[in-house]
Amino acid sequence: MGVAGGNGLDLINPATTDAVFGYDINGSYLRACADRHKATLGPRLQLVQTAIDRALRVPPVGLLIANLIIEYLGIDEFAAFAAANHHHIGTLSCVTQLNQAASFVSATQYAASFDALESISSDIDPVNLADAMNKSGFKHVLTLSYPLHNGKTLIRQDFRSTAD
Ligand SMILES: C[S@@+](CC[C@H](N)C(=O)[O-])C[C@H]1O[C@@H](n2cnc3c(N)ncnc32)[C@H](O)[C@@H]1O
Repeated sequence: MGVAGGNGLDLINPATTDAVFGYDINGSYLRACADRHKATLGPRLQLVQTAIDRALRVPPVGLLIANLIIEYLGIDEFAAFAAANHHHIGTLSCVTQLNQAASFVSATQYAASFDALESISSDIDPVNLADAMNKSGFKHVLTLSYPLHNGKTLIRQDFRSTAD
């Protein structure tokens, strides 16, 4: 979810993975993602330009990764999406960002390009996310914290669908 240019897809082993679906609202990002990964993933890589919200339905997947996207959707919309799809998802792994001493977009030479994004993102409380996911049919199974040098911390939370 929110695959952007496909950072991390290089870690997928094509020999053990049947299909990789990438969803994003931004078609330019998806084209960059295709350029980077079509050679290794071939027809396994299926990129879908769409808004992610409670109306979206995904095909059955063992693992659904939602990194740095819940900040844009908000917990309510993301949890509604998860509830609507929980029979089709095995593990749902989310990364959100705690911004104790920094803004959502890190200070780099490119930061100004993201000014518009900052206005539509909001900080996510991991406890509130876990509560909402629990009500959407997902059991909280793992939390890991990754403190960064710039005062931010990445929080990974994994949830297992309780659907049979
Ligand atoms: C901060 S980037 C995260 C990219 C990637 N997941 C990562 O961790 O590096 C957020 C991505 O979510 C996409 N996005 C934001 N809101 C969206 C929405 N409502 N529907 C679909 N994609 C959205 C943006 O286009 C962008 O590619």
